[in-house]
Amino acid sequence: MDKTRKIGILTGGGDCPGLNAVIRGAVECCLNAGVHVYGLYDGWRGALTGEGKYLSYDDVEEIQTKGGTILGTSRTNVMNMAGGAETVRARMQQLGLEGLIAIGGDDTLGVANKLRKMGLNMIGVPKTIDNDLSCTDVTFGFDTATNIAMECIDRLHTTAESHSRCIVVECMGRHTGHIALHAGLAANAHLILIPEYPKTFREISDFVKSRHVLGKKYTIIVVAEGFEFADTSENDESIGVDAFGNKLLLTKDLAKNLADMIEKDVRSDDTLPDDCKSFECRYVVLGHIQRGGAPTCADRVLGFRLGVKAGQLATMHEYGNMVALSGNEIVAADLDRAVTERKLVSPELYSAAELIFR
Ligand code: F6P
Repeated sequence: MDKTRKIGILTGGGDCPGLNAVIRGAVECCLNAGVHVYGLYDGWRGALTGEGKYLSYDDVEEIQTKGGTILGTSRTNVMNMAGGAETVRARMQQLGLEGLIAIGGDDTLGVANKLRKMGLNMIGVPKTIDNDLSCTDVTFGFDTATNIAMECIDRLHTTAESHSRCIVVECMGRHTGHIALHAGLAANAHLILIPEYPKTFREISDFVKSRHVLGKKYTIIVVAEGFEFADTSENDESIGVDAFGNKLLLTKDLAKNLADMIEKDVRSDDTLPDDCKSFECRYVVLGHIQRGGAPTCADRVLGFRLGVKAGQLATMHEYGNMVALSGNEIVAADLDRAVTERKLVSPELYSAAELIFR
């Protein structure tokens, strides 16, 4: 009978700079301890089909320098499929995998947590550029995403200023505004809109107008993709219908809608100087640019350390937890709590950023 210890590893959900560093850390650690690592392809899909390969030292050499994930990823949810969890159990037995390292965000880790409760050996590694997972100080990928966003916003200042325009820049952040807040603050956005601290359209448009009245030539607004107006009637009717003749879904085409609405509102305000009649607003959606490409140094190192810790827990048979950053230490954290609590931008951080909203 083959007594070699084997574990599986997978990456699920949206890709994230630093994933390959995690894989390398885990594989190096496990192989050194004589534990083989089977890389499952495309997230939980690989755990269902068994598709994958054993990872050697050669397979993981230098991969921490690359973005994306060498294993591929998907948003497959085994818990939504009839018999999905049992198929994973059977597949792990067939492959001889004693446990799994699941690298992912709340969805992927949520599945790992449910499988853990069913008695399967799981170790979670928190991953999201959005940085909204609790029980860890920061998630890898966030540093890369914020630096890319910051650089893009930096660049938008000069073109906005040259044309005396308002530019609305949309950052990723489905539920929270960590990327928008950090990148916007660092790149001197004039206003930052995030889901945690909603504002009315009137507040936003009046802010743009006040800058104009003060003689400031241009405005940069950074908005997280999950932002909605504080006054929900503005989301549904008065503003959205006015701007497009359609019911406005703020989460869809958010930056475009917001830019159109501001432009229209400023142009139609007779109390403003005449030059406002031709006021122009543009928008930019940073989208997947924030996720693509090589990770920063911080994300490579954090990812690698998390991978090593996950590998150590596996080699010591210590399953059931998530690895996390706490201060300067990599620790084992509560997987259950991590997938049930979302980390929001704190009131302290948002009010600090508000100091520059002018
Ligand atoms: O969860 C991370 C994230 O980057 C979100 O900010 C964003 O809404 C989502 O992924 C986009 O995912 P997809 O790659 O499926 O478009």
